[in-house]
Amino acid sequence: MNKSLLQTNPRGLCDEPKIMKKLEFNFKKNREQDNSPHLDRLSLEFDYDRCKNEYWNPENFSLFYKSPLWNEASPTQRIKLNQLYWVAYYSQIISAEIATIFFNQTSAAGLYGIEDFRIVCETLDLESMQERAHIAAFKRIAESFELAEFGERFFTYPMRGPYVETMIFQNSGKVRRFWKEMQLKAFTLLSSGNAFIGSQYFTVRGVRTLNGKIIQHQLSQYYMQHSKKDLAPIPSVVSYHHFLDESFHFNTSMIVGKEATKVLRNPTRFEKTVVNRMLEGCQRDHYNFSTAINGIFWSDPALFGTTYRLLRSPIFSMKHGDALNMLHRLFAEESEAMHLSQLTHKTAVDSYREYLAPLSFLSRKNREVQIMAENSMEKHLATNRRALRFFRA
Ligand SMILES: [Fe+2]
Ligand SMILES: [Fe+2]
Repeated sequence: MNKSLLQTNPRGLCDEPKIMKKLEFNFKKNREQDNSPHLDRLSLEFDYDRCKNEYWNPENFSLFYKSPLWNEASPTQRIKLNQLYWVAYYSQIISAEIATIFFNQTSAAGLYGIEDFRIVCETLDLESMQERAHIAAFKRIAESFELAEFGERFFTYPMRGPYVETMIFQNSGKVRRFWKEMQLKAFTLLSSGNAFIGSQYFTVRGVRTLNGKIIQHQLSQYYMQHSKKDLAPIPSVVSYHHFLDESFHFNTSMIVGKEATKVLRNPTRFEKTVVNRMLEGCQRDHYNFSTAINGIFWSDPALFGTTYRLLRSPIFSMKHGDALNMLHRLFAEESEAMHLSQLTHKTAVDSYREYLAPLSFLSRKNREVQIMAENSMEKHLATNRRALRFFRA
């Protein structure tokens, strides 16, 4: 930037050629490899009938894997639990990506106020376009599955805006949901007018993507290891192409959230407070581990109703009493399924810690990921048992 002319910020991105190079490289590679056309094609080609009798993920990524329901399920029911994992998992990803598209734009607006951030904004434009292709593919597959198997929605939902609670199965209650929506609205205004807060959206995005990356890498392996790739079920191919795009998105989060801040002035107390609050919110969103779905931090009690419907559906055809009994065994009794989900939660805590540790403007609560780390098997079981007493099917 031209230093002889007055500038709002003493430094621009061009003053950090190493960071600039990384951004350019990441953008160039993502553009060259853009998976959106593949995903659009796959979504058009998808025909549920052609892949309804096979797994879509590695076996351990099945709904209720290693729970009593899984242990007692027939091979056909296990296939459905495996496909349901895909449907549930990517229904959550749709919600997260709707929010991402919006906050990419508001944060880009905040960062564009500093010299030389055009490259970041254009990277984010590309990413938002990719997210729309991702969402379209997930939505078409997940809705086709639910229509064919149930004739109604289980995990999917009608298209929605970015202010709705991102976690689709969260026990928030009306007041907390309203409060969260207000916080999101306030954050949009703050991030679009403040480069530091805008940049730190990417720290939050990075944390959220980090967990996604751990799971999605494993989901992509089903296609990677398929002996006849051209015959692999389309949902598994979607998982693979999506993971390729997301790896670039994660790099963007790392570079913008952690490195590009070098050209910004030191954060004020207010800015630090906003960023710390955001991360605390993210920790609260990721506090639970879910017995039903390993790798997504949904609240079990929020899933009782859907699980009951699943048990009563033609896939399991249970009677009312048997379904209630199974709900109890699934959620109120310790199982290997719970331990596996808790283990993934622990891995997430460790990787968030490693990611956040170098950021000196964060509170200890955030750097050490204390809120998430407070959860335990005892607390998990106590919450589920309490909620089950009030559950009415
Ligand atoms: Fe995506
Ligand atoms: Fe993404």
